[in-house]
Amino acid sequence: MDFPNFAPALKGESGKSSFHPLGQEEKNEDWRLFVSLLAKMYNRFDKSNNMIFDLIKKRRSVFPARYIDKEIAKADIEKILEAANWAPTHKKTEPWRFKVLQGESQGKLGLFLSLKYLETEPKPKEFKVKKLMENPKKAGAIIAICMQRDPLESLPEWEEIAATAMAVQNMWLCCTEMGIGCYWSSPGLIKYMDEFFEMNEGEKCLGFFYMGYYEGEISEATRTPIQDKVVWG
Ligand SMILES: Cc1cc2nc3c(=O)[nH]c(=O)nc-3n(C[C@H](O)[C@H](O)[C@H](O)COP(=O)(O)O)c2cc1C
Repeated sequence: MDFPNFAPALKGESGKSSFHPLGQEEKNEDWRLFVSLLAKMYNRFDKSNNMIFDLIKKRRSVFPARYIDKEIAKADIEKILEAANWAPTHKKTEPWRFKVLQGESQGKLGLFLSLKYLETEPKPKEFKVKKLMENPKKAGAIIAICMQRDPLESLPEWEEIAATAMAVQNMWLCCTEMGIGCYWSSPGLIKYMDEFFEMNEGEKCLGFFYMGYYEGEISEATRTPIQDKVVWG
């Protein structure tokens, strides 16, 4: 962008240093332009301050029914995982663990979940069997969200789960910015995931992070007012 030369405006039209901005503002076109540019720059600065807030508000759960058949590049998944790795962590235990499923493994997960549901549910519902089988195949990728308990148990378990959840929020925000739909799925069947994955001692599956590109808009979310959840001292 070419910036106009404001030197005359700052010095006064005559070039003399007798210019008084408040007095001549109405008459001086350059000065008005200068002020409007300053306002625009301020506005842009103000907006950039809002960027993280806007992203947080834009983050949505996007479910498999919305996913389109478009591959998620490995480099993008790596970036999303890298974002997860920057979550805060008490005593630096970094308890988040992830298992990435793509392609055939997604179908295998669907088969495992639907069979496990049939095996453990006294009155299985047909639509649920189908959903458990089909949903994983609709995703561009699925990341199993796991938490590795610190072997020394130097922290209460909730802190390890909280840190893992913060890692998931990082991934969710990263996906939002990259235009990838996603959500955290936590079916009761996750307690059987050690039969599907090789899991370490003290490692627990907390759910699945489904990801997929989508088209169109996501419906607006609502929240009850924050004032109802805050007490000021
Ligand atoms: C820990 C956790 C587990 C969740 N598990 C499920 C789930 O099993 N099934 C589901 O439909 N949504 C699940 N969700 C997503 C919520 O339904 C969703 O976040 C909520 O409806 C708010 O919508 P939003 O994410 O678009 O703001 C989970 C979210 C969190 C944080």
